[in-house]
Amino acid sequence: MRAWVDAKGRLMTDKTRRYRSAEWFGKNDKDGFLHRSWMRNQGIPSHAFDGRPIVGICNTWSELTPCNAHFRTLAEHVKRGVLEAGGFPLEFPVTSLGESNLRPTAMFLRNLASMDVEESLRGNPIDGVVLLCGCDKTTPSLVMGAASVDLPSIVLSGGPMLNGKYRGRDIGSGTGVWQLTDELKAGKITLDDYMDAEACMSRSAGHCMTMGTASTMASMVEALGLALPHNAAIPAVDSRRYVLANAVGHRIVDLIREDVRISKILTREAFENAIRVNGAIGGSTNAVVHLIAIAGRVGVDIGLDDWDRLGKDIPTILDLQPSGRFLMEDFYYAGGLPAVIRKLGEMGALHRDALTVSGKTAWERVADAPCYDEEVIRPADKALTASGGIAVLRGNLAPGGAIVKPSAASPDLMVHRGRAVVFESIEDYRARIDDPDLDIDETCVMVLKYAGPVGYPGFAEVGNMGLPPKVLKRGIRDMVRISDGRMSGTAYGTVVLHTAPEAALGGPLALVENGDMIELDVPNRRLHLEVTDEELARRRENWTSPVAKPAGGYAWLFSEHVLQADKGVDFDFLVGCRGSAVPRESH
Ligand code: FES
Repeated sequence: MRAWVDAKGRLMTDKTRRYRSAEWFGKNDKDGFLHRSWMRNQGIPSHAFDGRPIVGICNTWSELTPCNAHFRTLAEHVKRGVLEAGGFPLEFPVTSLGESNLRPTAMFLRNLASMDVEESLRGNPIDGVVLLCGCDKTTPSLVMGAASVDLPSIVLSGGPMLNGKYRGRDIGSGTGVWQLTDELKAGKITLDDYMDAEACMSRSAGHCMTMGTASTMASMVEALGLALPHNAAIPAVDSRRYVLANAVGHRIVDLIREDVRISKILTREAFENAIRVNGAIGGSTNAVVHLIAIAGRVGVDIGLDDWDRLGKDIPTILDLQPSGRFLMEDFYYAGGLPAVIRKLGEMGALHRDALTVSGKTAWERVADAPCYDEEVIRPADKALTASGGIAVLRGNLAPGGAIVKPSAASPDLMVHRGRAVVFESIEDYRARIDDPDLDIDETCVMVLKYAGPVGYPGFAEVGNMGLPPKVLKRGIRDMVRISDGRMSGTAYGTVVLHTAPEAALGGPLALVENGDMIELDVPNRRLHLEVTDEELARRRENWTSPVAKPAGGYAWLFSEHVLQADKGVDFDFLVGCRGSAVPRESH
């Protein structure tokens, strides 16, 4: 039996520690009999119940979540590591949110999935957990749930797909779809060309291989210290992903023995590190709501102003789509996230002492990280964007804030004044955008209403509205777009998102009319509707929300309790940590 010395200098073994799972398996009475006996029907031997750490493997495997479809194999490698380290693994499923299939949007179910995770962890004989995350919402939902329980926890991401290959060039998940769709609408490619690309884009197991939301969140958990080095970028099908899974199995057993709970990792310093890393990698705008929500679960007060303040001076040094040229496979071969974090440390933009699940500090684990390709991971003086963080805009159009991602936007549109062309819903946009008589040109500002958390419902990824064909045909590829919705992390453009409060709650966005002038000034963080207060008050008198209240079910719960974008879109009753106290026995 393994023995170790704890922080107080005491000699410890699994027997002296007496873990949480002993409340189920460690009693020689009726309850112990019940809990052990039914588990034995799986062929589990007696020594599994001898007091060793029980490791939960929280699996989001699903054939409806193609990005996570390889997770059963991944779990086997974690189990091997757990067993080698003297723990006992028990795999269990939780709600799996697949971005490409779920309607109305996977975001609608993120909080529900987090509740599943939280209650599954608290109600079961689990001493620590490995969170198997991949597709966009599976990472925040699992981390949010685990944070509200506060057991030792470690994230293992499934890894990105191999680069898409199409007629001699690389194409990226999502980003390639938006580009090819624009080319089709502009008449540059045929429908046959377009359909051919479909099979070339997703050619291995894994999640989107652009710096979309899945890759961003895999990077965020590594930057937070919740995952081992290289979690973000090792391709899903690279054998080193399985070696990493084995190492995760070893580490979670150590974390349980050392009682390193998730709250010891998720400190304010950890979140500040992650926000800076997001700027350096040109990460997804979705990370803003997810990190605010995760921070809320552990009682760390992170808000939009932190995003703006911390990201402002961070150059985007990673040249990955959608902001740049390369893909996640290239990122791993270039040195992966440790090389990026090392550069931030050398710039003085890293809390070096932040603790990580590796047992080393944030700096110790990257101090020697090599960079093999400065085309992919650029030096700071050759950055894609000097100020790469998320810019937070305020003004009479967004009193609660709105965001824009400068690294994915057009520099010549960062300061722009234009005439509003208003779409009252995403269906209204779809019905009219291809109309050759639509009164719009590239100087206009496209405005989309009712795509926010309550309005859609679920906070739709529709903010990157495609441009009108008549504009695309003239070679124009970007216009200013404003909405209260989100956009896919794989998308790009001068797209103002997350406008709060949202239109469905009577936010000023609801009052914009065709022909109003709108001023966007990113350097001065300003988003202004050039309409007098008196006129806005008059419009408000005549305004009623077109969004019907759901009559019941989960949709009702969602619309009653969801917080606005600037608060992370969590449910008001889920904010905070409720701990891991063992629930009462019911037999
Ligand atoms: Fe799953 Fe993009 S659809 S990560």
